[in-house]
Amino acid sequence: MKEEIISLLKKNKNEFISGEDISSVLGISRAAVWKYMKAIKEAGYNIESVSRKGYKLISSPDLLTFEEISPYLNTHYIGKQIIYFDSIDSTNNEAKKLASSGCLEGTVIISEEQTMGRGRLGRNWVSPKFKGIWMSIVLRPDIEPMNVTKITQVGAAAVLKAIKEQGINAYIKWPNDIILNNKKVCGILTEMSGEINNINYVVMGIGINVNIDKEDFPKDIEEIATSLKIEEGKGIKRKTLVASILNNLEELYDEFINNEDIKTSIDICRENSILIGKTIKIINRSNVIIAEAINLSDDGKLIVKYEDGSIHEVISGEVSIRGLYGYV
Ligand code: BTN
Repeated sequence: MKEEIISLLKKNKNEFISGEDISSVLGISRAAVWKYMKAIKEAGYNIESVSRKGYKLISSPDLLTFEEISPYLNTHYIGKQIIYFDSIDSTNNEAKKLASSGCLEGTVIISEEQTMGRGRLGRNWVSPKFKGIWMSIVLRPDIEPMNVTKITQVGAAAVLKAIKEQGINAYIKWPNDIILNNKKVCGILTEMSGEINNINYVVMGIGINVNIDKEDFPKDIEEIATSLKIEEGKGIKRKTLVASILNNLEELYDEFINNEDIKTSIDICRENSILIGKTIKIINRSNVIIAEAINLSDDGKLIVKYEDGSIHEVISGEVSIRGLYGYV
């Protein structure tokens, strides 16, 4: 009911709507309107209440609910359903549950915090409350399972575009990190369920350190992790950033799935690559190879030159890439 009242207030923005009108439109008592209004104010909505006039919405908080994100969305299916949590273990876990019970393609699971956020290769993902974007998108692509890794690059391109739209100059560290001033601000964890030649669903989990403060990072990652706020010196609105990611994602994902064309996404990854031209370490379990990153292939593999001059293509899978002397 809170959501319906917020929608009514938003529809009547800049105008008063009376308690009586709210109660008759929504079929609830005046006392219930009053009770919900109190809860809405406590959630951070600034509402002016004037006797005999009613309620007027002055401003909304930066919460990642459907009501706050949807006014900025121009998608057809991604984000039409946003399932919001105040706290959850991992949005990827929840997305997998919902996907196996048949939720629609494009359903977004988003939480203000994660208590067991997961990163690639079994790592933890620090996800403090209200300070980042922790979300997972359920996709049902009709493609060969071996092409699923490409979806991560579609995601990376969508996030990068959205961050750049904020006037922030970030880079992509193939295959799934977004880098700002040589530190990581975003990671993508793509997980899938399927058989050898059939995909049931794909969950794309996106974690962005938006308004995290330095002291929120554990000591062991403070040298390699950062946030948009730390680097830009100011807080960033999360809801518009989420909407812009979802808008970009639908456009790039549609191009990939409908036209079997990943060119735009790969071009974005290539043009904004932090690795190309650098000497890197390719780490595959305990095996480390030094190579020069030369390019991205048209289908999203990293083309590298080993020290003996031979050229190889690296598939994202289980490798981790580091710069020769640091994270990038
Ligand atoms: C990485 O290791 O770089 C990937 C990090 C992915 C983190 C996101 S946050 C939302 C979603 N839920 C999770 O538990 N992980 C992903």
